[in-house]
Amino acid sequence: MQWTSTAVLVKPDGLQRGLIGEIISRFERKGLKLAGIKMLNMTDEMLGEWYAEHKDKSFFDDLKSFMGSMPVVAMVWEGIEAVPVVRKLVGLTLGREAEGGSIRGDFGMSQQFNLIHASASDQDAEREIKIVFDTDELFDYEHTMEQLIYADYERGSK
Ligand code: CMP
Repeated sequence: MQWTSTAVLVKPDGLQRGLIGEIISRFERKGLKLAGIKMLNMTDEMLGEWYAEHKDKSFFDDLKSFMGSMPVVAMVWEGIEAVPVVRKLVGLTLGREAEGGSIRGDFGMSQQFNLIHASASDQDAEREIKIVFDTDELFDYEHTMEQLIYADYERGSK
């Protein structure tokens, strides 16, 4: 059981669809802890770094221009095993196949317009957080609800 951080982006389609509040609310209700949040326009350079693993894919340029076309809302969420927990809440990449109850399953139909990004691994999370957030934009504070969200033996792993 490891306490980890994960990066989330609400993409331009999520912003246009009015899903920011819904998405934040789902993560809050789950018991995750918000460590940082900002709205920004991602530059071509940031997107090149963010999506480096897709640089040879046919959709790379389209993806970058879509993601840079409007602001996104970036967040950092924390918790025990936050990376897989958030991935599960987000659902499969293709909205049409994503499970009901997940964000993409409840609100999306598309592959490219899939509303939200969530880090795929702890290493990705570390890299992605650094692309968007300066260290003074991330907050370490007491989350009093943690005593109810986790048992003592689980919080001991923090
Ligand atoms: P995400 O998993 O957040 O990061 C990579 C993104 O590339 C993915 O979400 C989709 O938005 C996008 N993507 C994946 N496959 C395709 C595809 N075949 N065509 C267009 N966009 C895609």
